[in-house]
Amino acid sequence: MKACIVFAHEGDHSFNHEILSRVRKACEASNISYVVRDLYEMNFQPVFTALDMKRIEHRNPSSDIEEEQSLITESDLLIMIYPVWWWSPPAILKGYLDRIFTDGFAFRYESDGPVGLLQNKRALVFTSTRESAKEMAEQGLDLVVRKQIVEGTLEMIGYEVEYQNFAAVTEVDDEARELMLRLVERKIHAIREPIPL
Ligand SMILES: Cc1cc2nc3c(=O)[nH]c(=O)nc-3n(C[C@H](O)[C@H](O)[C@H](O)COP(=O)(O)O)c2cc1C
Repeated sequence: MKACIVFAHEGDHSFNHEILSRVRKACEASNISYVVRDLYEMNFQPVFTALDMKRIEHRNPSSDIEEEQSLITESDLLIMIYPVWWWSPPAILKGYLDRIFTDGFAFRYESDGPVGLLQNKRALVFTSTRESAKEMAEQGLDLVVRKQIVEGTLEMIGYEVEYQNFAAVTEVDDEARELMLRLVERKIHAIREPIPL
C-alpha cells in the first residue's frame, strides 16, 4: 500500500506536527510506503489561475499540478492532516484541492451529475479544532467541517473516506492529546483492511 500524506500547517511545532509524526511511524510499522507533501515547506502555489483553467481545458496542466496528480494516481491511500481555520481547511490546502482535483482528472460531469474518477482509493482525514465537540455540535459546525472535505470533496471524486477531528486540542492536557495520537496510530493500522463492498 502506498500513501500520499498532504500536510498543511504553517509552523514547525504543533499538534498537527505530532499527528504527522505518528502517521509516519504507524505507516512504517504497517509497511505502508509514503510520500509527504508538506504544502508550506513546498511553498505550494494555491491560487487557481486563468492560465490553470486554460491548461486544464487543453489537458496540459502545469508541471506542479501534474506532479501532485501523479502522486495521487500512484497512491492507494490519501492522508490529509490540517488544523481547521474558519471552519475550513487552511487556504494553502483549499488551493491544493482547487488546483489538483481538476475536472477530467478527479471527476467528470455526466448527465446525472459528477462522477468520481479516483476509484478504489481510501482517504483518512485528520483535523484539529480549538472549539470543543460540544460547542461545535451546538452550532452544527461539526457537520460543516466534515461535510466540506468528506462529502463535498473526497467522496465526490471517488474516495472511501474516514474523517477524524480532534476537538479542543489547545485546551486539553497532554494525557488527552496522547490518547488522540494513539487513535491516529490505530486508524493507520486498521486501514489495511479491505474496502467494504
Ligand atoms: C487563522 C485561524 C483560524 C482558526 N479558526 C478556527 C475555527 O474556525 N474553529 C476552531 O475551532 N479553531 C480555529 N482555529 C484554531 C486552530 O484550529 C487550532 O489552533 C489548531 O487546531 C491547533 O492545532 P495546532 O497546535 O496543530 O496548530 C483557528 C486558528 C487560526 C490560526
